[in-house]
Amino acid sequence: MLNKSEYMGGENFDLRDILIRGRKMNLKKKTEFFDSFIDELLSKKQMLHLRVISSPADREVKVVDSYTGEVRSMLMFGSNNYLGLANHPYIKEFVCRMIQKYGAGIGGPPLLNGYTALHHELEERLAHLKGAEDVLIFSSGYGANVGLVSALMNNEDLVVYDSYSHASFHDGIKMSGAQAVHFSHNDVELLEQTLDRTSSMNFKDRFVGVEGVYSMDGDIAPLDLIVPICKKNNAILILDDAHGTGVMGRKGSGTAEHFGVESEVDITMGTFSKTFAVTGGFVAASKSIINYLRFFARSYMFSASLPPTVVASVLAALDVMDKEPELVNRLNDNIKYTAQCLTQLGFPANSLTPIFPLRVPVNMNIRDASFEFHQKGIFINSIEYPAVPKSQQRFRISIMATHTKEDIDRLMEAITEIWKNNEPEQEKKTEEVKVYFNNKKVLFN
Ligand SMILES: Cc1ncc(COP(=O)(O)O)c(C=O)c1O
Repeated sequence: MLNKSEYMGGENFDLRDILIRGRKMNLKKKTEFFDSFIDELLSKKQMLHLRVISSPADREVKVVDSYTGEVRSMLMFGSNNYLGLANHPYIKEFVCRMIQKYGAGIGGPPLLNGYTALHHELEERLAHLKGAEDVLIFSSGYGANVGLVSALMNNEDLVVYDSYSHASFHDGIKMSGAQAVHFSHNDVELLEQTLDRTSSMNFKDRFVGVEGVYSMDGDIAPLDLIVPICKKNNAILILDDAHGTGVMGRKGSGTAEHFGVESEVDITMGTFSKTFAVTGGFVAASKSIINYLRFFARSYMFSASLPPTVVASVLAALDVMDKEPELVNRLNDNIKYTAQCLTQLGFPANSLTPIFPLRVPVNMNIRDASFEFHQKGIFINSIEYPAVPKSQQRFRISIMATHTKEDIDRLMEAITEIWKNNEPEQEKKTEEVKVYFNNKKVLFN
């Protein structure tokens, strides 16, 4: 057991503290230390990780309350299931048919016995979606980034990447040993300067890494500016379009389509865990890059293939995207409505992507506010330090095509009440602020 001096938990204590202090502890101490951290979260009802969902992933989900054991209906605003495909009847029926034909699993990696006709068909369909020569499928988006980056780069190369890039991109860089420089988020000028300054250094290749839609802020990379900078500097552009695929562009083919630069991005990575609502990842590029990755991306070579059920699910999702373009339209309507409501409440909001960050004032307790959302039947993800800097802690709202306007209204009412309840003293405004939502005044002084 830990004594009091060894445990210095508290509400401002977080996972990074555990990592730092844990470095000096052996495994037994470290895990006990972590247990006491979790126990404290549980006792304060601040533990909302691992909530058990006992229904299909839809706009409304059944959640088992870990404190009372009661099963409650909650509105889901925390899922990347942007088009609502996770519970689509056509997809479920197609997967059932394919499980009869191909069975439940495959039991091997793609280069050996793990490559079915379904895998082959999906690679062709995704290449078509992305306007690329070829595609290869990984068993996760994480594996796709790590495999791609560590296979293509080494210590003779330079990678210049946006500072908001996903952990999987960072991990890939570490594994590759490439020289790496990041630039401030979406600072295109800094990207250009960095490429300019490194042009005479003897790197074998220079890569640029950006995301189409950034997962924490929901803003987009200005590819219309980034593509010409890469071309001018002879740099290879890698686009992580995990959140843009299926959502951005007229056909939902992604952020490059949104900017009309589909044929000019060298390498695009995507996942099946967002719009396609299952799991897996892919890389789209020239035939020779894909061939190379098949034999040198270790997370592809040394990891078993996705089961045919998951592949079938993505294939069926592509059918739905073709046959029901109104889903993207409905999502866009909901995005616009949410942006309008948040702006009325005084939050900055973009109206292009389904991700809305709800910045939490520095002295508002994000864990208490999280529990209030939970109590009000709103399932929303909180993004805490160290995932983001302390000053940027936020709730992340994820909007889906299947949400109704009434769902979004309920979310706004919850936000209004929680902000009113938790507004820190010194941040209270002295003047009355008139904010109207559905003709009701919702924010007071
Ligand atoms: C931008 C980005 N890239 C990669 C990934 C990894 O994808 P997956 O969760 O499918 O492994 C994620 C997932 O959160 C992501 O947001």
